[in-house]
Amino acid sequence: MTNKKQTVTDRIRSDIVKGLIKPGQKLPSIREQSQAFACSLNTIIGAYQELEKEYLIYSRPKSGYYVVAPEALLPLLQKKRIDFTSAAPDPSSLSQTDFRQCLNKAMELFESSIFTYSDSQGLLSLRQEIVKLFHKQQVFSSEHQIFIFSGAQQALHLLNGMPFPNGKTNILVEQPTYWGMLESLKAQNQTVIGIERTPDGIDWAALERHFQSNMIKFFYTIPRFHNPLGTSYTQKEKQRIAELAQKYDVYIVEDDYLADFETNHKADPIWAYNGSSHVIYLRSFSKVMLPGLRLAAATVPSALVPSLQQHKRTADLSTSVLSQGVLEIFIQSGMYEHHAKQMRAMYAQRMSKLKEAASRLLPKAFLYSIPASGGLFAALNLPGIHTEELVKRIGQRGVDVLRADQQFLPTFPKPNLLRMSIMRTDEQDIEEGIQTLAEELDHATLTNNAYTPSFWI
Ligand SMILES: Cc1ncc(COP(=O)(O)O)c(C=O)c1O
Repeated sequence: MTNKKQTVTDRIRSDIVKGLIKPGQKLPSIREQSQAFACSLNTIIGAYQELEKEYLIYSRPKSGYYVVAPEALLPLLQKKRIDFTSAAPDPSSLSQTDFRQCLNKAMELFESSIFTYSDSQGLLSLRQEIVKLFHKQQVFSSEHQIFIFSGAQQALHLLNGMPFPNGKTNILVEQPTYWGMLESLKAQNQTVIGIERTPDGIDWAALERHFQSNMIKFFYTIPRFHNPLGTSYTQKEKQRIAELAQKYDVYIVEDDYLADFETNHKADPIWAYNGSSHVIYLRSFSKVMLPGLRLAAATVPSALVPSLQQHKRTADLSTSVLSQGVLEIFIQSGMYEHHAKQMRAMYAQRMSKLKEAASRLLPKAFLYSIPASGGLFAALNLPGIHTEELVKRIGQRGVDVLRADQQFLPTFPKPNLLRMSIMRTDEQDIEEGIQTLAEELDHATLTNNAYTPSFWI
């Protein structure tokens, strides 16, 4: 930094810290400052940019620079940010003691398996536990059809790349959808087709047309607590998907990543509607337990078993035995059920809070999809708002939210979605974060992106 820029930056910072320039107050214009400090316009621009990086000031387009309000400054100085972006559980949510106990026990019980290579389909004893776990969701399978994967991401990546018994090649995905699926499809150069999903569901005629005419190998869907929308299909809709799959010989990859957080006991998965021949039912353990364990389980139609065994073996020989052992003990001991129950209640409460705060503080037109309770994600739709700038500005005030652009295929028309995750928040964070968002929306710049999905009302 030049000497002059440093001097100017230090002077303005010192005035802010001492309270000589008040929070919320507009700073003198760049021209006025350059006259006051007898320096170039560039020196002042550089100093303002430095202070912006320190989150002491922020810019409002076509208006000028302002001092950050103290309530927003405080969390920043304490390095506590309000995080609506994270898709990983709160580190405090899983008891370290319980986890260590399971880990030690797994070391003891699976010692011989750890010192050798094991079944690439997964430990038989764990697969037997998964059969019982899936039963609770009305998914009736046998251990011969169960696979343990190194995370749901691995399962998706393998399914994307392998041939299916229907001999078809194209993959149909909801728009928006989980970004990791899109990344995998892109990396493997797969032909992918998007079908719009809104809070109202999907266009059934379009779905049937795709199934009938577009050589669809499988339809990837997140029926429950969709990422990023947060919405779920009704039972009727799930039944319809299962029927269409059967009718047109299209497979369904049912990503039930949040099955553990369901609060409605009657919400059966697609698999429950005659899924054994065409549905691959997939569950991740990253949200209910720990993403670091890298664990997911699936049950697949018998026709897929030999080919999937081969692809899984080729990918990594097997999923970590130690991780599998921990999960097995966690389930067997009853800790899993107890923990899932606690997490379910905690997240349901946070989601209700998000719904309440957003309904009270944000314009109704922006409330796109917020589940009444349950799930982890909700979406706001801000047609006409420059969201890139908005996200940056609330970030400067200590609140992180994610634009959902990367959850769409590049060619697909995108609404202006913000994904809100409640995983690493608490009720106070939610109140403050939504309040900040509401304040910044008052100054938001407008764009001409006023696209709203075709059958959203
Ligand atoms: C819908 C969905 N599916 C799959 C995954 C990946 O899960 P895993 O950590 O088991 O690979 C995620 C991760 O966020 C997700 O949101």
